[in-house]
Amino acid sequence: MKTFRVGIIGATGMVGQRFITLLENHPWFNIELLAASSRSAGKTYTEAVGSRWLMSTPMPEKVKDMIVYDAEKDIDKIAESVDFVFCAVNMKKDEIKALEEKYAKAEIPVISNNSAHRHTDDVPMVVPEINPEHIEIINAQRKRLGTKRGFIAVKSNCSIQSYVPALHPLMKYGVENVLACTYQAISGAGKNFETWPEMVDNLIPYIGGEEEKSELEPLKVWGKIEGDKIVDATTPNITTQCLRVPVSDGHTAAVFVSFKNKPSIEDIKKDWKEFAGVPQELELPSAPKQFLNYFEEADRPQAKLDRDMEKGMAVSIGRLREDKQFDYKFVCLSHNTLRGAAGGGVLLAELLAAKGYLD
Ligand SMILES: NC(=O)c1ccc[n+]([C@@H]2O[C@H](COP(=O)([O-])OP(=O)(O)OC[C@H]3O[C@@H](n4cnc5c(N)ncnc54)[C@H](OP(=O)(O)O)[C@@H]3O)[C@@H](O)[C@H]2O)c1
Repeated sequence: MKTFRVGIIGATGMVGQRFITLLENHPWFNIELLAASSRSAGKTYTEAVGSRWLMSTPMPEKVKDMIVYDAEKDIDKIAESVDFVFCAVNMKKDEIKALEEKYAKAEIPVISNNSAHRHTDDVPMVVPEINPEHIEIINAQRKRLGTKRGFIAVKSNCSIQSYVPALHPLMKYGVENVLACTYQAISGAGKNFETWPEMVDNLIPYIGGEEEKSELEPLKVWGKIEGDKIVDATTPNITTQCLRVPVSDGHTAAVFVSFKNKPSIEDIKKDWKEFAGVPQELELPSAPKQFLNYFEEADRPQAKLDRDMEKGMAVSIGRLREDKQFDYKFVCLSHNTLRGAAGGGVLLAELLAAKGYLD
């Protein structure tokens, strides 16, 4: 594989910092350029980040003295220097939509962690193990945008990253009803316990917009390409409650599910064990070897013990058992800033590179 020159838009933020640490020794992707708001533009990366470095590993030497570009004003200069960008910015939705389209129209593919374009018909929202074929819609999107290379591809919200993978191999049994309660880490709000001390010994039963995303996004991921759009699936019927809990990293979900054709517990465990997707077949650099991992121990998965499995790219599952109202219930976990954010973005970029969409 050739190496690609990569820009990170929103490089000073929490997700941007994760991209920087994940790309430090990446075999295909080389960090060429960093961009953020006009507040950071013109400063060295070290100056721009100041005391906001939130990663547990030190800032990589390579980026310390890089001069940060203005993500909005320097698009032409950025277009000359990179093959594609990762984008994770904190702006209003319509501003993000416009910004990402400007990059795409400047012939820069955009791999986005933002939610702005998740429901644009011809923008693929991809979990690489589940709906890799959705990237084929990029040809239609390029036609609409009038571009040769430029396009936008997005990853889904971190909240669905544990239960949608766990349900996916079971869709063949006709998943009818799903109830998922998520217990979400504070890093999902870009915080740690120092910056959000009110979360110590606390739980907040509301995360703005999260329940809508958690119920709607799976239907696009399980949707089908029809002509020049992705049409959402109409089932399963999903209801959720999303809570913020005092955990640093790792979103857990307690899931209840009923089927048209109820499988046995052994069938489900076998399906999870044997499930492998395109990233595993192609041996993409960031793909976990075993995506779905079932624990027989009654007290697993635990956020602290299991979120880093396979470098935070795997999903852990446990406590599968029969339920009185649904057919089964189980618990699952994924790392929200790795698989659920920057890591999921890097894996999507690897899929796009392997399939020739970044050439
Ligand atoms: N945290 C997560 O786990 C997570 C997970 C999935 C998705 N996301 C999404 O990823 C995005 C970023 O989240 P985050 O937690 O990394 O946010 P964050 O820590 O607040 O960082 C925001 C970034 O956006 C930049 N920015 C703000 N206004 C800008 C502007 N007008 N033009 C260009 N850049 C601008 C900031 O630059 P300055 O430093 O110059 O202000 C900073 O680099 C959000 O859309 C969020 O919903 C986050």
